[in-house]
Amino acid sequence: MANIVIIGAQWGDEGKGKIVDLLAEKFDIVARYQGGHNAGHTVTIDGKQFILHLIPSGILHGGRLCVIGPGVVLDPKAFFEELDMLEEAGIQVRGNLYISNRAHLILPYHRAVEKAAEEARGAKKIGTTSRGIGPAYEDKTGRRGLRVVDLFDAENLRETIFELTREKNCLIQSLYGGPPLDARQIYKEYLQYGQRLKEFVVDTAFFLNDQIRQGKRVLFEGAQGTLLDVDHGTYPYVTSSNATAGAACVGSGVAPSWITGVIGIAKAYTTRVGGGPFPTEANGTIGDEIRRRGAEYGASTGRPRRCGWFDGVATSYSAVLNNLQAIVITKLDVLDEFEQILVCTGYEYRGCQLKEFPPEIKVLEAVKPMYKSVPGWQSPTAGMQDYDGLPVRAKDYLKMLSDITRTECSFISTGPDREHTIVLPDSWTARTLYQ
Ligand code: GDP
Ligand code: IMO
Ligand code: MG
Repeated sequence: MANIVIIGAQWGDEGKGKIVDLLAEKFDIVARYQGGHNAGHTVTIDGKQFILHLIPSGILHGGRLCVIGPGVVLDPKAFFEELDMLEEAGIQVRGNLYISNRAHLILPYHRAVEKAAEEARGAKKIGTTSRGIGPAYEDKTGRRGLRVVDLFDAENLRETIFELTREKNCLIQSLYGGPPLDARQIYKEYLQYGQRLKEFVVDTAFFLNDQIRQGKRVLFEGAQGTLLDVDHGTYPYVTSSNATAGAACVGSGVAPSWITGVIGIAKAYTTRVGGGPFPTEANGTIGDEIRRRGAEYGASTGRPRRCGWFDGVATSYSAVLNNLQAIVITKLDVLDEFEQILVCTGYEYRGCQLKEFPPEIKVLEAVKPMYKSVPGWQSPTAGMQDYDGLPVRAKDYLKMLSDITRTECSFISTGPDREHTIVLPDSWTARTLYQ
């Protein structure tokens, strides 16, 4: 049995897509379980780049079955755009992808409400991906959401869409002064989506449990990152789902007792998109250099990512919350040319070192990172596949990250392509999957 959860250990965009694609060959099924098309998971195969938002990255491996679980919020329009993109690239999706009948739907009014609410927040805006994710989860927990299965009951669908559109229009018009939406148009559009989605829809929890009982292996593909988790992250500057490992069970219907382990993905530095505290953010030349060398622009929105040094406090907090068996350090190559590299090993607040990752935004905004400065290796690691060939200082740096997070490093990523990876042979991941 090997059912493994992959999570982002920072603020998202750690390179989860690349690692999921890499590991997919060792699994039968790859499942998404939270978030929606706010995710942008990049996979590069022989130089060709794919950006997946909703469909699990495992789809690029022929023969892998993929699941969109009930914890995901699904925008049918975004789904069909992604399906078209993959089919045009010659990827076989039909027959390899199952969508949960219980997944909640994103509707046009979710996007409209989010846009209006973000504008109304002014300087305090979250900086969301504008995909309607938050409002869709609000309707889900408010017990008024529409699920995939509801697309197949035309009468109920019509009634609910009309009712909800009326409510949302009140909000959009009176509170935010925006234009109303046409319920009839939404109903017509979603009824058609239902017909087109039908071939993908099953009870995915039943399917996954049945497969696991038969001895099949499932790789759970997390979206976003631990610090964006709605309960544990830098609230309210978070996404609206749980990005920590526990969500893999809740969002798929697979019990914790089936999970073998959790692997966290972290960059050799830190990035964040959107608003919210970011203690190690490097404004100015250093931040610009990291962004340039790491091509740090959002895979979903194209926004420049905020960049800074590795945050040992935030990533250790992640390692604890997810009880990581292993960590994968990505984008080591981006640091190749730096003369000095800083690593944050603690937060100082009002002259004292904090013992915990603080819950208050004001405190996080005010903390002073305590940095350890180490000399850079200043020689190319880009594309390396062999640990022994790494410069000694790069090895020391990796060991330091592993020591700070108290987590074993399993893989090192040295470039975007599948091949640009170092697998540490004695690591937990290698022992679990490759032997
Ligand atoms: P995800 O959301 O966690 O899947 O990550 P993204 O795809 O949003 O962002 C990661 C970016 O870094 C993508 O453009 C990847 O192609 C790229 N990438 C992943 N690993 C490496 C690496 O080791 N080195 C470099 N230079 N780029 C990488
Ligand atoms: P992947 O899976 C990085 C961020 C947004 C915003 C906040 C809330 O590619 O790592 P939302 O649209 O979810 O309501 O936005 O969360 N965010 C991400 N940042 N990577 C992601 O996904 C993200 N998904 C959402 O920028 O700050
Ligand atoms: Mg991303």
